Amino acid sequence: MTYQDVHLHKRDEAFEEVEIKGLKVSLVAAGDGGEVIRHQLGAGSAWAIGPSEGWTSMEFVYVVSGELHWTVDGQAFAAKPGDSLSAVAISRDTVFTCPVDTEFLYFSTQPVFHHYSVQLRELMQLAVSIEQKDGYTADHCNRIKDLSMRIGQEMGLTSSQLYNLNIASFLHDVGKIRVPLPILNKPSTLSAAEWDVMKRHTSFGRQMLEETNLPMLTTAAQIVEQHHERRNGSGYPFGLAGDDIRLEAAIVAVADSFDAMTTDRPYQKARSAGDAKREIREKRGILYHPDVVDAFLSLADRAEI
Ligand SMILES: [Fe+2]
Repeated sequence: MTYQDVHLHKRDEAFEEVEIKGLKVSLVAAGDGGEVIRHQLGAGSAWAIGPSEGWTSMEFVYVVSGELHWTVDGQAFAAKPGDSLSAVAISRDTVFTCPVDTEFLYFSTQPVFHHYSVQLRELMQLAVSIEQKDGYTADHCNRIKDLSMRIGQEMGLTSSQLYNLNIASFLHDVGKIRVPLPILNKPSTLSAAEWDVMKRHTSFGRQMLEETNLPMLTTAAQIVEQHHERRNGSGYPFGLAGDDIRLEAAIVAVADSFDAMTTDRPYQKARSAGDAKREIREKRGILYHPDVVDAFLSLADRAEI
C-alpha cells in the first residue's frame, strides 16, 4: 500500500537488484544521497566495507536473520538478528563472514549501490565470457573459485584472506579480455612476441580491478596479477619467487594448473586427475608453494577433488 509520501516496499520489491553467486543485493530505498540496501548472503560467504577517497559517510547495518561475524585486532564479534552496527567515515577495511544464510539491511548516507554491485557483476560477467573465448566452458571460473576456496579453508586462511581469494580466483583471467582474439584463440604455438602479449593478461586484470576504484578489490587485484608467478621465480609477469608471491595467488596457481591439465579444450586433450595430481606433487616447492600442495593433496587423499 502506498499513500501520500510514504512508500511501502513489499519484501520482493526493489528499485534494482543484483545477484552474484552467494550474494543478492537489492536497493530498497534511495533519496537525498542516502541508500538502503538489503543484502542476502549464503552460508559461508563474505562481505566487506572499507574507506575510499573522500568517504565520510555514516554506515549502519541491521541484522534481520542469520549472523554476521568479524574481527578487529584479533577480537571476534558477532551480530545476531535485532543487533545493529554503525561506523562514521570508516578508516579500515572490515570483512564480515556469514556462517549461516544471513540477511541484513545496510544504510549509507552516501550512494554506493552502483559503485559496488554493478561493477563487480560486470567484471564477473566479463570473466565468464572470456573463459568461453579461451576454449573453456562457462563453469571454469566457478571451478577455480571452488577449488581455491577449499584449499584456502584447508590451510586455515583468515576471513580477510578468504574474501580476497574468493574474488581473485573467480576473476583471475579477466584481463584476457584485453588480449587480441587472434592471439587468444591461436590454435598453434604462439610466437615470442605473441606470448609476451598473452602474459600481460595478468597485469591487465590487476588494472581492470583497480579501475573500479573499489577499495575491496585492491588486494584481489594483486592476487590476480600474481596468479602465474611460480615458486622458483620462473613465472610471470615479474618472476617473483618464494614468499614474495602472495599466498592467495599461490593457491590460485595450483587450482588453475590442475583445472587446465584436467579440462578438454579445443587444442588439448584432458589428462587424468591422477596424472595431474602426480605432476603437482612433483613440482611441490619448485613451481608451487609446498603448503598449498600439501593442502591440495590432503583434499585429494580424502577424495574431495
Ligand atoms: Fe591466467
